[in-house]
Amino acid sequence: MNTKLVAPSLLASDFANLQRDVEMVNQSEADWFHLDIMDGVFVPNISFGMPVIKAIAEHAKKTLDVHLMIVDPDRYIKTFADLGSNNLTVHYEACTHLHRTLQAIKGEGMKAGVALNPHTSVNLLEDTIQDIDLVCMMSVNPGFGGQSFIENTYQKVSELKNIIEKKNSKALIEIDGGVNATNAKKLVDAGADVLVAGSFVFKSENPTNTIKNLKEIIN
Ligand code: DX5
Ligand code: ZN
Repeated sequence: MNTKLVAPSLLASDFANLQRDVEMVNQSEADWFHLDIMDGVFVPNISFGMPVIKAIAEHAKKTLDVHLMIVDPDRYIKTFADLGSNNLTVHYEACTHLHRTLQAIKGEGMKAGVALNPHTSVNLLEDTIQDIDLVCMMSVNPGFGGQSFIENTYQKVSELKNIIEKKNSKALIEIDGGVNATNAKKLVDAGADVLVAGSFVFKSENPTNTIKNLKEIIN
């Protein structure tokens, strides 16, 4: 079995102590930094942008997993590559020419991810799954941290896992939203490879231990 990964979402970190929280993740057993970029159009919220990502990238020592919740993401692919993103995930619902977008992301040397809103069927990825490195399955409606996990995610994960195997794709399945110690094991059992966790990590008493516990639960 492959090692299952944990990606703390900095959206839930303390922005007034961002360097401290980035260093905490560096020192922890976490695998990736998950960065949520929101434009106030694709989702109702606005998170943070380029100057903040640049500051994070200067301190972060692990993979930068960037989740774009923005319209027309093609405009910014090169910018995010230049900022040091390793994975760049766009929303299926925001891309008219998804295949082209994926090639453009890979052309800039990044791993290409596609995020699916809770209402979007995994079957829609059948024709692109071989070009995708990472599927970010939203288990809440995107836009905010701290929401409750949507239960039919397990079913969607198993369906997606079947498509990945059937098509011989190497895509990883990432779960984003409401992840905690209660649903983590069931998610990896259904086929998940990467768990994003925001509030569960950063709002806990000891985020380093919370990450360690999550890693133990899923591996
Ligand atoms: C939601 C974001 C998530 C969010 C997860 O739109 O994509 O990455 O930060 O936060 P929690 O783990 O608190 O649901
Ligand atoms: Zn996210």
